[in-house]
Amino acid sequence: MFSEWVVLADYYRVMLSIEQTPVAADVVGLLEGLCTTRAIRRYKNEPIPEVVLRDIMFAATRAPSGSNRQPFRFIVLTDSDVAAKAKQLIASGAQKVWNNKRTTDGYDSGSGVADNSAKARMARTMQQYVDHLEDVPVLVLACLVRYREPNALEGASVYPACQNVLLAARALGYGGVLTGFHSFVEPGLRALLQIPEGTAIAASITLGKPEGRHGPVRRAPMSSLIFGDRWEVAPSWAQDPPDTATIARRF
Ligand SMILES: Cc1cc2nc3c(=O)[nH]c(=O)nc-3n(C[C@H](O)[C@H](O)[C@H](O)COP(=O)(O)O)c2cc1C
Repeated sequence: MFSEWVVLADYYRVMLSIEQTPVAADVVGLLEGLCTTRAIRRYKNEPIPEVVLRDIMFAATRAPSGSNRQPFRFIVLTDSDVAAKAKQLIASGAQKVWNNKRTTDGYDSGSGVADNSAKARMARTMQQYVDHLEDVPVLVLACLVRYREPNALEGASVYPACQNVLLAARALGYGGVLTGFHSFVEPGLRALLQIPEGTAIAASITLGKPEGRHGPVRRAPMSSLIFGDRWEVAPSWAQDPPDTATIARRF
């Protein structure tokens, strides 16, 4: 009964005011969504409707945090003049970082020279991403209001909310990627957006409707990441399910 009502409400979403509109009924199962959410850096040139943005950011606000203090805040930049300036700033920082990384990490040497190598594909994706970053449909700055001295655990009160953003986007047919690009232009960004002292910018997340094909999530085999009673000793049940796409563990 409830789900029928949600489907019906979905159909009439455009006609309801946003506070009357229930969260969308999504078709991706929770586990499937968790295991298939990629970093999406190429977007169609279309805005994210407000009702979708509401659902994505609602999911963010449902995240856990220490003692349920909810120190996370999100600045959602879409199409205002301020948003355009902030996106330009972050794009300029991203271009500097990527140009530097491209050289220092040798993206244009070794296997990177072969056009169809993973390295060359990644370089193309990153170049396209930073070149068009100022045009991304939505840029979310995830912030953390500090209520005590910085400590190793504090990120755990904002990054689950960031992951909820990416998972909710996936559930609704959108995609995004968490970046650290804000850190290279932070003073200008803080002044523009009036972010108060004592509040950290934890991540900049770009969002949009995915453009092109995105392959499966590739991670190291779980037997190299999951240990039983001793370091580096995998329990017998730590076996990837059939047809899992893997890459080698890096360290
Ligand atoms: C802490 C963190 C920082 C990241 N910083 C950046 C970044 O600055 N720029 C970027 O393009 N992607 C960034 N990413 C995205 C990762 O590169 C991406 O999640 C990873 O390569 C896995 O991608 P996949 O899920 O598509 O396989 C970051 C991810 C995390 C978790």
